[in-house]
Amino acid sequence: MYSYKIIGGKPLKGDVSISGSKNAVLGVLAAAMMLDGPCTLENVPDISDVHVMVDLCRKIGATIEEVGPYTLRIDPTTINTYQATGPEVSKIRASYYLLGALLARCGKAYLRLPGGCNFGQRPIDYHLRAFKAMGAKGTNARDIDNGIIKLEANPLKGTRVFFDIASVGATINVMLAATKAQGTTTIINAAREPHIVDVANFLNSMGAKIKGAGTDTIRITGVPTLPGNFSYSIIPDQIEAGTYMIAAAVTDGDVTIRNLIPTHMEPLSAKMREMGYQVDEDEDSIRVYKDEGTEIECTNFKTAPYPGFPTDLQPQAVVLLCLASGMSKMHENVWESRFQYVAELQKMGASITCMERIALVNGIDKFKSAYVNATDLRAGAALVCAALNAEGTTFISSASRIDRGYENIVEKLTALGATIERVENSEYVSDDEA
Ligand code: EPZ
Repeated sequence: MYSYKIIGGKPLKGDVSISGSKNAVLGVLAAAMMLDGPCTLENVPDISDVHVMVDLCRKIGATIEEVGPYTLRIDPTTINTYQATGPEVSKIRASYYLLGALLARCGKAYLRLPGGCNFGQRPIDYHLRAFKAMGAKGTNARDIDNGIIKLEANPLKGTRVFFDIASVGATINVMLAATKAQGTTTIINAAREPHIVDVANFLNSMGAKIKGAGTDTIRITGVPTLPGNFSYSIIPDQIEAGTYMIAAAVTDGDVTIRNLIPTHMEPLSAKMREMGYQVDEDEDSIRVYKDEGTEIECTNFKTAPYPGFPTDLQPQAVVLLCLASGMSKMHENVWESRFQYVAELQKMGASITCMERIALVNGIDKFKSAYVNATDLRAGAALVCAALNAEGTTFISSASRIDRGYENIVEKLTALGATIERVENSEYVSDDEA
């Protein structure tokens, strides 16, 4: 178990390059399990969630080898089971994409319940209800016996699926299952995140027939085979990019974030400009800085499904609000409880009051260094931003949670002038890492 030790108080300066999108590549890896031939994935981020997903795919028999930096060669034709029930399945949330992929490939899927960050309830009832509507028989959301979901559908049939909430995971999972179903499936009130479009683009390049990804209505015409035999490059990570934009801002720095898609950043860019930051866009980069003497204004954020403000930048944005003058509000509208990290920020001097899904944030001059704990992946990223602002030395324990979604964060921040290093916990207080 290890922590990040950060000596803050210095402005970040220079350029940083964004890696492939965690939430796209996890869906694309599951989609690759449905192919009838090999494929090559490029721009795959070197993060622990990807290592877990690759291990899961290898456990069901897929052949996956690293053929170059950030490049995987995948051959799913060696898959030899429809069961993914080992404990490793519960390490990440995205393992549930194997339900749609294995149902499409084998007509059967047994899967242990997925894991993921603890934001309160994380049901998968939309997924199971949709598979049932497509003709699958087996486990109901209410009676998942000993944590194993068992579904069978020979074959899956196209149908119309409506989601009460535009669920990212359920949209991707149904898209996977529908790709090889008999007939056409229409998803109504589909999620529109960039990573959903990336999974659809990957599948279409492999022979699928998916239209409307990125809108609230996606139409999938089932195909009998997915020949594959193509290469595909994963889109840049919207959330990693936003995290570095915020890190630049809270250190009063001047950073150009490269290899990103500016339109994906619009929800954050617009709010940062509203607060007074300079956010200059180029074709595939954004420069963040502040003009001398500008006072950063408070504002209100509301998280929502894309193209709204992404919930995965909510903790990092609250750090930004802590350094604005006056009272700001953060409305968390996606998850029922995603403010666990506030107690850690309060140890660093933050003045925040939480009431269910709203955080009231009073501006402070600077954070104070402290011993804090990364309660989840994006909470950890927020604590890194606060520690970079604080004078003195901050220790962030459970740092492995940060590495689930941020590739080479020590190297990337060091190159921007930060003082950050990984230290084993034996060097100081232990943490509560599970
Ligand atoms: C994905 O989680 C992301 N994870 C999350 O990112 C992200 O916070 C979330 O989408 C929202 O953007 C991955 O892509 C691996 P949802 P997911 O289904 O699919 C409710 C990160 O930091 N819901 O869009 O689990 C649910 O409770 C992670 O990278 C149901 O009620 O999110 C929530 O309130 C954290 N029943 C809302 O929908 C269901 O069957 C949105 O959830 C499914 C979801």
